[in-house]
Amino acid sequence: MADKKVTVLEVQQAKAEGRKLVMVTAYDYPLGLLAAEAGVDIVLVGDSLGMVVMGLEGTVEVTMEDMIHHTKAVVRGCKGPLIVGDMPFMSYNTSIREAIINAGRLVKEGGCEVIKLEGGVDFAPTGGAIVKAGIPVMGHIGLTPQTARSLGGFKIQGRDASAAKQIVDDARALEDAGVFSMILEAVPSPLGQLIAESVEVPVIGIGAGPEVDGQVLVFHDVVGLYDRFVPKFVKQYAKVRRVM
Ligand code: KIV
Repeated sequence: MADKKVTVLEVQQAKAEGRKLVMVTAYDYPLGLLAAEAGVDIVLVGDSLGMVVMGLEGTVEVTMEDMIHHTKAVVRGCKGPLIVGDMPFMSYNTSIREAIINAGRLVKEGGCEVIKLEGGVDFAPTGGAIVKAGIPVMGHIGLTPQTARSLGGFKIQGRDASAAKQIVDDARALEDAGVFSMILEAVPSPLGQLIAESVEVPVIGIGAGPEVDGQVLVFHDVVGLYDRFVPKFVKQYAKVRRVM
């Protein structure tokens, strides 16, 4: 197991060096340990825990307390990978001041190194303010599960020219605001490639095709532990639920 911490700088350099980034979610101590042992670059304590761990319908009900609790557990087991704490819905949406306070809580109480928040042009100022406060930020554009209802459900985004242009604009706004990388979820492969080529920071895809700078998947999907809904793009390596 590599205990040497992956840094934000190393994540940024990976793109310049043409090395693809590997990222997976984890929600507790054993998954944190496993991800570290597997040698992934980045571990996301995702608010997807609302669905795959807490049995909720979506991520909207996940709270700061839920995120801090699970982040603490992952941090105890996960020594090498860069750990990203996910900002839950409404923890950064009401004001920049509240966003900075909650990002600070996730880092200070949860113990993660960086935070992630959903949103493009509209949330770039919030992301930029958190970066200025001293916390590195990962963006999340394309399909943003916290606001999936406004996007018409869990659907592929950026299918027509104007929707695709909006996502390119989102990526550029986040880069200008100072994020060190971003997640791009559920867009057609050519758009994934275009966005990865449009910004210098790494674009880590989930259902965004192979031509991005890395891939992220939800742990429970990868090992077949959650069967209520498995997105088409998921590569499932095992059927752990059946074994258990
Ligand atoms: O919460 C999460 O697991 C995520 C991934 C889908 C990227 O945001």
